[in-house]
Amino acid sequence: MNQKSLVILGIESSCDDTSAAVLKNDTILSNVTANQAVHEQYGGVVPELASRAHQQNIIPVVDAALKKAGISLNKLDAIAFTRGPGLMGSLVVGTSFAKATALALNIPLLDVNHMQGHILAHFIDEGQEKPSFPFICLTVSGGHTQLVKVTAPLEMEIIGSTIDDAAGEAFDKIAKIIGLPYPGGPLVDKHAQSGNPLAFKFAQPQVDGYNFSFSGLKTSVLYFIQKQVKLNPDFIEENKDDLCASVQHTILEILFKQLIKLSKETGITDIAIAGGVSANSGLRKRLQEEGDKRNWRVFIPSFQFCTDNAAMIAITGKFLYEKGQFADQSISALARLPFKP
Ligand code: KG4
Ligand code: ZN
Repeated sequence: MNQKSLVILGIESSCDDTSAAVLKNDTILSNVTANQAVHEQYGGVVPELASRAHQQNIIPVVDAALKKAGISLNKLDAIAFTRGPGLMGSLVVGTSFAKATALALNIPLLDVNHMQGHILAHFIDEGQEKPSFPFICLTVSGGHTQLVKVTAPLEMEIIGSTIDDAAGEAFDKIAKIIGLPYPGGPLVDKHAQSGNPLAFKFAQPQVDGYNFSFSGLKTSVLYFIQKQVKLNPDFIEENKDDLCASVQHTILEILFKQLIKLSKETGITDIAIAGGVSANSGLRKRLQEEGDKRNWRVFIPSFQFCTDNAAMIAITGKFLYEKGQFADQSISALARLPFKP
């Protein structure tokens, strides 16, 4: 049977990355992202500046994605966009753009939950094995840390989440204490590769059920460093690699303790990771090792689909399209958005 192909334009603008992607069936033809360097000098994302930068970036980014894919506007079958969760001023830019373009082209509009997008990035076809249902996904990003049971592409249940900071936020805030620029997560990862993960021991939280907590770790690293710097002003410089490796090790311990417990208690052994922190080399390696030890099938996204990107929004849009779940022109962005359906 000769099935008609489905071409979807994905738009992502939930935080500080403006991204557009073109998806044809299950494969990505282009995935273009403009990062916003403007926030670095402030040590974190400034919402108003992020919103303005999205407005400047969105048209050139969409244009570049279409050109790279070799697809003209009239070949698009639908537009998928991130409705939430995220920063309101950022979300409205992508949402308005998607609504206006869908209206002008008279094609369907698909509203996507950003966190479900991170998970469904595993179904972008790159010739790799895909998770079978049900699977567990540990979604770790700058704004969220969640253990999710996925029973179908759009049937997901959050089993555990952070009660304070997200894992990526912990990486970034501790990096700042160590004197690394924003966003510090990737730099902690880099230094950790040459450090001893057991050099310094930090306390781990006791949290109910499958939840996580990272704010205690941040405080204990801060106090520890303040104390050491009083004794030796060069402490951070002399111990940067070991500090990063020990912090990263503790974050991974916190994450894996709950993940392993959930796998044991549910009997689910298809285990995926998603979100910006899933780019962390220590996390990727540890998942592989735990998988070998515990007979898990593990699923690790390619780097371009870990941090925020529109490809994951487009593939989620495809699942919504197949279910006939379209949005209409009355839809608006939501900073706090529960999973669909
Ligand atoms: O998913 P994402 O791009 O944006 C949000 O939805 O939050 O995640 C961004 C987070 C940031 O906190 C960043 O520091 C972290 O992911 N991150 C990493 C690495 N790459 C990105 N954290 C640790 N190691 C990395 N290699
Ligand atoms: Zn994200």
